[in-house]
Amino acid sequence: MDSQETKSRINWVRSSGRLLNAIADEFGRSRPFRDVTIGTGIHLEPKTAALLLTLRAGGARVVATGNLSSTQPTTVDYLRDRHIDVFAETTTDAATHDASLSRVLAERPDLLLDNGGDLFARFEDAPYPGLIGGTEETTSGRMRLEPMRDRLAMPILVINDSPIKQFAENKHAVGQSIFESYMRLTNRSTNGKRVTVFGYGACGQGVAACFRSAYSTVSVVDVDPVATLAAHFDGYATPQRRDALRTADLIVTETGGVDVITADDIDDLKDGVILMNGGHFPTEIAVSNIATSDAVTGRERYQGEGIESLRLADGRVVHILTDGNMANLAGPRALGNSIESMDIGFALQARCLEHVALGKASAADCVVPVPADIDARVAQDYLALNR
Ligand SMILES: NC(=O)c1ccc[n+]([C@@H]2O[C@H](COP(=O)([O-])OP(=O)(O)OC[C@H]3O[C@@H](n4cnc5c(N)ncnc54)[C@H](O)[C@@H]3O)[C@@H](O)[C@H]2O)c1
Repeated sequence: MDSQETKSRINWVRSSGRLLNAIADEFGRSRPFRDVTIGTGIHLEPKTAALLLTLRAGGARVVATGNLSSTQPTTVDYLRDRHIDVFAETTTDAATHDASLSRVLAERPDLLLDNGGDLFARFEDAPYPGLIGGTEETTSGRMRLEPMRDRLAMPILVINDSPIKQFAENKHAVGQSIFESYMRLTNRSTNGKRVTVFGYGACGQGVAACFRSAYSTVSVVDVDPVATLAAHFDGYATPQRRDALRTADLIVTETGGVDVITADDIDDLKDGVILMNGGHFPTEIAVSNIATSDAVTGRERYQGEGIESLRLADGRVVHILTDGNMANLAGPRALGNSIESMDIGFALQARCLEHVALGKASAADCVVPVPADIDARVAQDYLALNR
């Protein structure tokens, strides 16, 4: 995106995020972050820009960096123009990314907004006086920080553990976004297609529901018998893994695991099957293992389309979307999850940072879920604005 497109996109996101807008107005009056520096380490793209500007509206000095590989330079320019100090570049190099994280911490922020535990883990290695606490966006960050609880000993609220985040984002938004990505990338119909969803957690439930409502025949494969039973009760077919592979026109992985589909499965895949990943790691579909298998005799990349087709020795074809990366965040014009789901998730972020800044959380609240009263408030506010 060029800078004008980015500006338009961020402006659209900001105008659509009604909850965050209302909070920014309120923060402009209450100034909960007056004289506070907030260090952030979260993707620098249009939706997070709206969050960082909300914190700034509350009086914070914001010093920001991004995450590995996702920083959008035009978003960085937009934020710099609006008095956010950004230390970030688009990089897949861990050492370069580390240097950006260190630059944020060198500003000795009073609060941290972390994504994956990068900032808190570095703080734990090299502490400085004055850090009050902050937030962690993800489950993987929570798992990384839990063993450090005794040493961190400060309030750190974990956003992803909110029940709101689970249903609003992981279930509904990921389902819609993966469905939208399938349509946008392939331009194929869903009617009468056999779709198999691997993984029936919150994300898989949303994906399965979206394809079912679009007239596909959906089946679910999960390694956990309880999750499989839940899929059965929800009315999905739950075939044996191999039977599912043999009949699926589209396979979506949503497990959080690795090597869910590998070269060992090639013989079982149906001619023309499309493989699509919605899970966090690009290793759910073992793309290079499949593509370099002896069974593959030809490869065609549809340049700019996010599709690669593999021709097999027996004439069958297997299509892989976005090289096995999260299909709703990779590929052409990836939009990610809906603005509303991010609006509600970032409202939780803003309220949790306010909670910590105002001294309403203690060291005992180290790596704990969002407080229930914040969940209730965000839910009420969202309903009031959207009824
Ligand atoms: N694309 C996005 O925008 C987005 C957003 C949020 C989360 N995610 C990612 O989606 C993935 C799923 O998230 P979730 O919240 O639903 O997780 P979850 O842990 O609630 O559910 C995962 C399910 O997959 C099952 N599973 C694990 N390995 C399997 C395998 N090999 N085969 C079949 N089933 C298997 C588990 O038993 C579980 O039921 C995670 O990687 C998460 O980070 C993606």
